[in-house]
Amino acid sequence: MKIAWCITGAGHFLEESYEVFRTIKKGVRPDVSNPKPQTPNLKITIFISNAGVEVLRMYGIFAKLKEISNGDYMEEIFTEPEQGSSSPKAGRFSLKKYDAVVVSPATSNTVAKIAYGIADSLVTNVVSLATKACIPVYIVPTDGFPGKVESKMPYSIDRDKCRGCNDCEPRDSCEREAIYGAPIPQIDLLRCDGCGLCSELCPYDAINGGVVEIKAREIDIRNVEDLRKMEGITILERPEHFIFYKTHSDYYNP
Ligand SMILES: Cc1cc2nc3c(=O)[nH]c(=O)nc-3n(C[C@H](O)[C@H](O)[C@H](O)COP(=O)(O)O)c2cc1C
Repeated sequence: MKIAWCITGAGHFLEESYEVFRTIKKGVRPDVSNPKPQTPNLKITIFISNAGVEVLRMYGIFAKLKEISNGDYMEEIFTEPEQGSSSPKAGRFSLKKYDAVVVSPATSNTVAKIAYGIADSLVTNVVSLATKACIPVYIVPTDGFPGKVESKMPYSIDRDKCRGCNDCEPRDSCEREAIYGAPIPQIDLLRCDGCGLCSELCPYDAINGGVVEIKAREIDIRNVEDLRKMEGITILERPEHFIFYKTHSDYYNP
């Protein structure tokens, strides 16, 4: 069984998506107390959009992807810069080398592109070629449904709590020099790797991830509805639904 996991630049559902693939790879089914070993031949290739790389770092997940895809053949991690504009590795889908594609999480940007048949990035190329080769594609949109959702944010500095210390331990200890400025510093999220050390070191609890409420736009919901009508594409409400999807019972021994 070979799965292509595509990650786009979304914070929403990102940790949940990582947990799902870590779980599948480990072969531990989360709904049973006595998990059975999983199909030993499961291989997961990861395809990441440019924004996906940045956001994965901000949430401290990028470095952990090697636990899922160790770099061997069909277990690589592909990013956009190395795949140029034509995404040659997406040709594997025309060759039918994968059993399924999962885009989780899928930003509203990537959803819109797929809905309009655009294939100008690594992930949209993967989806385009997979559907042309009749490989099933599962998409977990971040903005697919009416109503508000709670979404975890990357680290930021709470300006009400920060005391503007001269000797700011979080700033001075950050190996990536991602915290800058005085008296109240800021975090450069493009440098941050989400390690969380700053949050632990601040004695005033001024650095946290926080949670925000987000409401999907009508256009995003419409685009997801359009995707639902596309042949070969299945919309999943949450990343965990991929584990329980009926056609994937064969990931586990009966
Ligand atoms: C911390 C962070 C979290 C984000 N979360 C989301 C999200 O949950 N959903 C979304 O549609 N866009 C989100 N974005 C915006 C996308 O990264 C941005 O639209 C990007 O252009 C998407 O590119 P991609 O679809 O090629 O990955 C987030 C951006 C940042 C910096």
